[in-house]
Amino acid sequence: MRYVIDPMTMADVPRVIEIERLAYPSTWPPSAYRKELQDNRWAHYIVLRDKHILDNGQTALVGPSEQEKPRKSRLFPLSLLPNRPAISNPVPELAAILGFAGLWLMVDEAHITTIAMHPEFRRLGLGEFLLVSLIDIAYEIGAKWVTLEVRVSNYPAQSLYRKYGFREAGVRHRYYSDNQEDALIMWTDEIHSTAYKEKFTELKSALFQSLADR
Ligand SMILES: CC(C)(COP(=O)(O)OP(=O)(O)OC[C@H]1O[C@@H](n2cnc3c(N)ncnc32)[C@H](O)[C@@H]1OP(=O)(O)O)[C@@H](O)C(=O)NCCC(=O)NCCS
Repeated sequence: MRYVIDPMTMADVPRVIEIERLAYPSTWPPSAYRKELQDNRWAHYIVLRDKHILDNGQTALVGPSEQEKPRKSRLFPLSLLPNRPAISNPVPELAAILGFAGLWLMVDEAHITTIAMHPEFRRLGLGEFLLVSLIDIAYEIGAKWVTLEVRVSNYPAQSLYRKYGFREAGVRHRYYSDNQEDALIMWTDEIHSTAYKEKFTELKSALFQSLADR
């Protein structure tokens, strides 16, 4: 498949922060990532890379000023081309990172702490690939449930979570300090239940098929 999931390393953090700034109203300080990656044994963070960008470096995507280049240099249809270069990082390993996500294991609960895609690469099934990868990690590390908080106004994310069986279980009032917005608390059913496993396997196969076809 064109997209790969890798464990996040400290070398990835500058690019992760770049995407985080585009995806969230407020961001974590770099020291928070250092703590998560180096000191928190219960934390699992991943990045999603585009192998085409890894192989082709910055030339994989072009901005309008370069749109006259031969067609073979474009890996995306014109409709998906950004208005400005989406990839500013000259290091292919970092430029190839399009999204990231993470969770903490708390006893037998996997708490998703973050999941974000670069705005230029949304609606391609890649946020879903990140979520599937987190749920796979939840299985591997022995979690029984997966949970998260999401802004009440964040319909795209809520829709993604609902697709994977997350349901509202409550509200944390004024949870977000930047605008005092409430958070919905969402939980999956027991992920080892036959019903959940069947649904997850079905969704994952459909996703991988659509990503492989690209
Ligand atoms: C949430 C986020 C990660 C989704 O990433 P994405 O790559 O655009 O999502 P995908 O293309 O994989 O979409 C998967 C599913 O998510 C839902 N979804 C994603 N974007 C949506 C939108 N704009 N409107 C409605 N549903 C949407 C749909 O259910 C979709 O499934 P479908 O394709 O079968 O309709 C992305 O919007 C993002 O980074 N947002 C900013 C950060 C954020 O809010 N993170 C969540 C914090 S709780």
